[in-house]
Amino acid sequence: MTASYIGHHKSDLDTPILCIDLDLMDSNIKRMAEFLHRHKKSWRPHAKCHKTPAIAWKEIAAGAIGATVAKVSEAEVMAATGIRDILIANMIVGQMKWERLAALCAWADPIVACDHFAQVEPLAAICFRNGVTCRIIIEINIGLDRVGTRPGRDTFDLALAISKLKGVELVGIMGYEGHLLRIENAEEKRRQIREAMAILAECADKLRHDGLRCDIVSAGGTGSYHISAECDGITELQCGGGIFADPFYLQECHVGGLDSALSVLATVVSRPTLDRAVLDSGRKTLNPDVQLPIVKDWPDASVKRLSAEHCELTLGPQSQNLKIGDKVELIVGYADFTTPLHDQFYGFRGERLEVVWPILGRGKLQ
Ligand SMILES: Cc1ncc(COP(=O)(O)O)c(C=O)c1O
Repeated sequence: MTASYIGHHKSDLDTPILCIDLDLMDSNIKRMAEFLHRHKKSWRPHAKCHKTPAIAWKEIAAGAIGATVAKVSEAEVMAATGIRDILIANMIVGQMKWERLAALCAWADPIVACDHFAQVEPLAAICFRNGVTCRIIIEINIGLDRVGTRPGRDTFDLALAISKLKGVELVGIMGYEGHLLRIENAEEKRRQIREAMAILAECADKLRHDGLRCDIVSAGGTGSYHISAECDGITELQCGGGIFADPFYLQECHVGGLDSALSVLATVVSRPTLDRAVLDSGRKTLNPDVQLPIVKDWPDASVKRLSAEHCELTLGPQSQNLKIGDKVELIVGYADFTTPLHDQFYGFRGERLEVVWPILGRGKLQ
């Protein structure tokens, strides 16, 4: 399916396809950008939910300072379209990756995360040899217990060691509060996130006090951005998934003020029983792991099970009219694991196809 379908009604298109409601995405981008602007935080949205430079540029047009990615190859894809200020919020290890990163520093201005000297020293040597400088940020473990230095002495020692290297420059710290997103009680969630952000703010103060550079203090996912944005000492937020506002964020993380914008358009291919319909969009189209998809427009239909090519729906009295050939839209539960299954996003303005964007970061895993 190509650009020749631009202007066509959604129901004309072949399925399954990954659809963006452009009005909702645009308004989510605007609302997040304005919220962070009001709270005097820079926005460097994580691109992992869309992996698409065209969308990163929309975020930049709304006020984002650049992009956050997880891989060197994703940074290359963004940089190839002219985005320079890119945070790779991940540990980069291996000779080939360090060489690619150093090469990228010649035509963009990436920042790379680290939590150990062993990730930085070889990169610094290559950058120095190439005559470039790569910006470095230290990831601190603020309770997620994934990666990150321990706050305090370990962080300070690493910062000091990095500050002495040629070929890299330490620019700040980051932390991710991913373990606190689903806390049910709003007060408790706010309290724990504030505590986690205070760890970063304290570390930043200590580094600056000891003469080390710490311009950037980065944190914040969509599931908590409304709280992290209130916290003193944080300079920028990485929240990205809010542009699609998946049910994961709205239901599990209790985030308000955004509307789900990403769906899969599917076709009913079988009606084995009155209360069962089967769609052409299984796990190769839609990953249900973090959050099950929701059946749009049919409140009494629900997703029962997905296998490789089939999605089984349980139908209530209202949706039992669905017949073979009908189109059904499934709101994606959590975009990050579904986007990489597709070559393209189909962007709809209302029910009309406005744009087809290649997901250029698809398959960029190195
Ligand atoms: C390093 C990092 N930053 C930020 C986020 C938040 O991203 P999002 O706002 O898309 O949930 C994540 C989520 O996994 C992450 O791993």
